Amino acid sequence: MIEASKPKHRNQRSRMKKTLRSQEWYGREGRDGFVYRSWMKNQGWPHDVFEGRPVIGICNTWSELTPCNAHFREIAEFVKRGVWEAGGFPLEFPVMSLGETQLRPTAMLFRNLASMDVEESIRGNPLDGVVLLMGCDKTTPSLLMGAASCGLPTIGVSGGPMLSGKFRGCDLGSGTGLWQMTDQLRTGEMKLEEYYQAESCMHRSKGHCMTMGTASTMANMVEALGMSLPGNAAIPAVDARRNTLAQLTGRRIVDMVREDLGISKVLTREAFENAICANAAIGGSTNAVIHLIAIAGRARVPLCLDDFEKLGSELPCLVNLQPSGKYLMEDYFYAGGLPAVLRELGDMGSLHRDALTANGKSIWENVREAPCWNREVIYRFSSPFKASAGISVLRGNLAPDGAIIKVSAASPHLLRHRGRAVVFESIEECHTRTNDESLEIDENCVMVLKNCGPKGYPGMAEVGNMLLPPKLLRKGVSDMVRISDARMSGTAYGTVVLHVCPEAAAGGPLALVRSGDTITLDVHKRELSLEVDENTLSERRSKWTPPSLPERGWLRLYAEHVLQADKGADLDFLQGYTGAAVARDSH
Ligand code: FES
Repeated sequence: MIEASKPKHRNQRSRMKKTLRSQEWYGREGRDGFVYRSWMKNQGWPHDVFEGRPVIGICNTWSELTPCNAHFREIAEFVKRGVWEAGGFPLEFPVMSLGETQLRPTAMLFRNLASMDVEESIRGNPLDGVVLLMGCDKTTPSLLMGAASCGLPTIGVSGGPMLSGKFRGCDLGSGTGLWQMTDQLRTGEMKLEEYYQAESCMHRSKGHCMTMGTASTMANMVEALGMSLPGNAAIPAVDARRNTLAQLTGRRIVDMVREDLGISKVLTREAFENAICANAAIGGSTNAVIHLIAIAGRARVPLCLDDFEKLGSELPCLVNLQPSGKYLMEDYFYAGGLPAVLRELGDMGSLHRDALTANGKSIWENVREAPCWNREVIYRFSSPFKASAGISVLRGNLAPDGAIIKVSAASPHLLRHRGRAVVFESIEECHTRTNDESLEIDENCVMVLKNCGPKGYPGMAEVGNMLLPPKLLRKGVSDMVRISDARMSGTAYGTVVLHVCPEAAAGGPLALVRSGDTITLDVHKRELSLEVDENTLSERRSKWTPPSLPERGWLRLYAEHVLQADKGADLDFLQGYTGAAVARDSH
């Protein structure tokens, strides 16, 4: 018999730390205490694990339908090792997982739903601290959003990037290589057989996309926010040090509980400003804008598009990674990873050095001596990879509430451009008409896509980098100005204006654009204008009708409450913080 002697309930509970939240469950007398403990004992836990050990939830987004997170059970085991070592009691729990490449219509439609799952799973259970296991694009923001609304001590472990893709002796980056090869296929430069061969070469190990796409960007954001141990962002998923980091994280969260280091002490305004600067310096994804604003909204930190413009737009890009550059995350790790980048920012006054991080030290204490081993991959601030290459915020009569462009991924000659609009009312129409050889379009035109924003798609799909018409690709055109209310994959590139606010489906001016109108983009002046007089726009507006709402279910709730991109596309009633207290606390 495992429990040979009768547990000494009364004596042992008298030594329990009253401050532990989990003791509101496991420290109870009578029927409630029996219920909370007894059913858990069916897993074989001895009685003493309920007697005052910090209970650590391991919030796991493992799923075979989220290939980037399919190794998370292994990572969870290493976190558990660390928790046990430090005297805690680890309990792993699943939450909704969002596989970017599998979920239709788009994983972003479910980011807020997953965040609700995370928030309520944390709040409703007997947890003192939480370790978030995050990887594929939306799994990182959804977990941070949910945890921020609860406020418990929280730390993250990212799943790590895949090994570099290799095809015909060359690097092949997630997504970025796909966009390039798809263009080659459409022009006939690549055969279909070769295209299919590349499938097995691009993603050849566990982990998330290994370009500086959204997953890698968000892993960097986790570290820049101070929400992980240093070095979390870049260690490849297959590297043994990823497991070591998970184990050390398990140890650390127990201490965070003992120190009462709640998430709000880390997710401060300074932390978000550091993340904005880091995103510029790494040439990070435009999706970071929407996710950071949403996370800040949960953490009660005011953050808006203008903060990205003020803090990040003039910063140089230091990291030579695809899609803005050449290398991949594996190279970034060997070169020193985010600590080397943060050191550059800190040396140049672009980092709040005192921002507290999850390991209890300031961010500067963590990175001030961080080495860089390869200046081809991580450049110096004084001689950057690309100057003034952060995300710029555009405004004008076409985007009164803002739009964004990733300058580091755009063509310099298109940053100031005036052209004739070619308008697509939906992404389906865009696909059909761009492949139509009779489409009246040339390289000076501006491609405009509507109805792909938070409400319109719904879910704000990553379709803003519209494929160029094959006839122009054959002419050697590799980029055009593209404008939409959609998002863009972090692995994509081009002179692509995204997140136009308000979106077309919300009645924004984008809804009023017609083919043949003239549009001016001036990134230097941060302007995006539609050259149509106000009377004409009023007349068009009077004929515009909003799309009908979905009939039921999550889609209905989402469509009624989703905010625009400049507000992070969270649901209006989810913004803010409830804390960890439960409404009713007994059976
Ligand atoms: Fe999962 Fe890119 S598809 S990280």
